[in-house]
Amino acid sequence: MLSDDDLARLLEAARGAAARAYAPYSGFRVGAAVLSGRGEVFAGCNVENASYGLTICAERNAVFGLVASGEAPPTVLAVLIYTPTPTPTAPCGACRQVLNEFGPGCEVVSACDGPERLRTTLDRLLPDAFGPRNLA
Ligand code: THU
Repeated sequence: MLSDDDLARLLEAARGAAARAYAPYSGFRVGAAVLSGRGEVFAGCNVENASYGLTICAERNAVFGLVASGEAPPTVLAVLIYTPTPTPTAPCGACRQVLNEFGPGCEVVSACDGPERLRTTLDRLLPDAFGPRNLA
């Protein structure tokens, strides 16, 4: 269970990342922060491209930052997605799949500038997931 302290750390990191988003095409800024197995926080923002399909989401950038840090094994305990919007944003399908690789049971929190917050787990967002065990 995510502590209030870790939740606050994730929110601060995700908010900071959202401010650094590169989203000139959609104007939709997203910040994400993951809590690793060792208690570290890694943040990412969405990075768009003039070739639209090459855009990458904030959540995947956060996860890839954890992996690139060399923490072994890379494990996601929780992810927080922040959008400066009136309602919270759940992770897209592609990001759910990538989160499943490193945190199949992780907590997922979506926060925004309104009072509503989503709080769930990845296995609820991606039931019967295809993952590493299928290839073992
Ligand atoms: N986006 C994210 O960063 N995460 C999501 O889970 C959904 C969508 C980004 C991609 C794109 O830059 C913008 O939001 C609009 O789709």
